[in-house]
Order: sequence, then C-alpha cells, then structure tokens
Amino acid sequence: MIKNENIKLYNGVSMPRIGFGTWQSSPEDAYKSVLWALECGYRHIDTAYVYGNEKEVGRAIKDSRIRRDEIFVCSKCPANVKTYEGCIEHFFETLKNLGLEYLDLYLIHAPWPWDNIGLDCTKGNVDVWRAMVELYHKGLIRAIGVSNFSERDIEAIVGLTDFKPMVNQIRYFIGNTQERLTRYCQNEGIVVEAYSPLATGKLLENEDIKRIALKYNTTIPKLCIRYCIEKNTVPLPKSVHKDRIEANLDVDFKISEDDLKVLDSIHDMSLDRPYRS
Ligand SMILES: NC(=O)c1ccc[n+]([C@@H]2O[C@H](COP(=O)([O-])OP(=O)(O)OC[C@H]3O[C@@H](n4cnc5c(N)ncnc54)[C@H](OP(=O)(O)O)[C@@H]3O)[C@@H](O)[C@H]2O)c1
Repeated sequence: MIKNENIKLYNGVSMPRIGFGTWQSSPEDAYKSVLWALECGYRHIDTAYVYGNEKEVGRAIKDSRIRRDEIFVCSKCPANVKTYEGCIEHFFETLKNLGLEYLDLYLIHAPWPWDNIGLDCTKGNVDVWRAMVELYHKGLIRAIGVSNFSERDIEAIVGLTDFKPMVNQIRYFIGNTQERLTRYCQNEGIVVEAYSPLATGKLLENEDIKRIALKYNTTIPKLCIRYCIEKNTVPLPKSVHKDRIEANLDVDFKISEDDLKVLDSIHDMSLDRPYRS
C-alpha cells in the first residue's frame, strides 16, 4: 500500500512515497489536518517557515503520539533569506517552532525571493547551501534539498559546493510536469517532489481528467495524485477536510501506459504561470 511505501534518497534516507501539504492552512486548520493525516496513515508532513503554521504542525505531531522517527518532517528556509547566518537563524527558529530536535528534510524554498522571481541569487544560494550542508553534517537534518530550482540553479550550487541536493520540490501536476527539469533531476538521482498535485484545486473540474478518472472508477484528485506516483515523483496533496485527507491516500491503483500518454498530452496554458507559495 502506498501509505507504507518509501523512496530512497541518494544518501540512503527513506522518504515516504506521499506527503501531506500545509500551505495556506491556517494554524488551527494545520493542527487539525496534520493530526487527521497522521491518524489515517500519512507519515510525511510538508511545511515551511513562511506558512506560519510550524508551531501547530509540531503540536499535532506531538499530540499524535506517533514515534518521532516514524514521521518524516520537511520545512523550508524562506526564499528571501540568502545569507549563511540567515539560514542558520531560521533553521533553529523552525526547529523551535516545530518543537523538534532535528528535521528530516530542509529545503531552500526558492532560488529567488517571491517578489523578485528570476533574480540571480547564485551567491546567496551558495551561502545558504553551505549553511545547510553544515547542519546536515552535524546531524541536525537527515536530508537537504531545494525547491523551485531550475537545472541552472542546481548546477550553480553544486558547482561551487560539490554537494548535490537530495530533493527538488517543484510545481508538478497533470498538464504541468516540467519534463526537462524532472528528467534532469531524476537522472542525477535527485528525488522530485510534486507540489500542488491538484494544481491548488484548479484541476478538480477538468473534463479530460474526469473522463479517465471515471474509467478507473476513481475521482479526479485520486487520479492526479496517482499520476505523480506513476511518474516517480512524491506528491504532496493538501486538504483541511478529514474525508478528503483520507481519500487522497487511497491511491493504490495503476494507470495504464496508454492513459498516462493521454494525461501527458493534457496542457492547460492558464496553469503555466509561476506563483507565490
Ligand atoms: N515549495 C513550494 O514552493 C510549494 C508551493 C506550493 C505548494 N507546496 C506544497 O505542496 C502542497 C500541496 O499544494 P497546494 O497546497 O498548492 O494544493 P493541492 O494539493 O494541489 O490542492 C489543494 C486544494 O485542493 C483541495 N482538495 C484537496 N483534496 C481534495 C479532494 N479530495 N477533493 C476536493 N478538493 C480537494 C483543497 O481544498 P481543502 O483544503 O478545502 O480540502 C485545496 O483547495 C502545499 O500545501 C505545500 O505543502 C510547496
């Protein structure tokens, strides 16, 4: 069953095959939804300093009474933090917010600040990456990675630090699969995490996807999540509703090669834009 499956990062750390998202969840919703998610079997929680809900995510983890080493927790260094000191400071604040002694995964949230998408921050990214590598070697983080990084952004930090990210968390859903970047990461042994697997809800009415979902006697959200798994990415669906949280984990079916091809050909231009998260 998918909820018990893991994917191995290149340093040997196991990451659960599906994660649970918390972006845009209010602190109260984050607490309830993470608790429900853990109750129904998710073991991988995705948050970020800028989501403003780390404290409640941490409280839910604690209140779940599940052993710490059975839960994979990811947070992110804010996109606008581009110094070594800033990263160290935010990392310890994140740990304190979550009430944890270590993180399973820590990511650079984006290669540029959200209000200046595309800005070349190579020097800043390298400084932040050096801080993360140091925290990793100290055993405070089990795996480190990046998010929203292009191939060029990744090569810039690897070229100057000789340390490859274990993960790249990118916007990935049917109709927006960043094929070249995904292929590059997977060829390099960098696990691709699929954020917004439902296009933040914008795929839920898609008629083309619905047709195929009906064929499998399943729903659009489940088909979207399963599609990410078929592509060897790690989907991070988010919901604040108990029934949806549970349903999104019930994706133990296979999509045929032919139907994957049909899904691959779906392209909605309106969903191409990059955005804040
Ligand atoms: N690294 C980054 O820059 C970045 C950017 C974006 C996202 N992320 C991560 O990826 C996670 C997921 O992405 P996302 O938050 O954009 O959204 P998403 O998972 O693509 O979609 C969530 C939306 O779909 C709805 N939904 C979820 N399951 C449903 C179901 N079974 N039936 C009907 N509606 C359903 C949710 O509504 P309800 O909540 O009301 O149920 C919500 O409106 C985030 O929470 C975050 O952890 C990371």
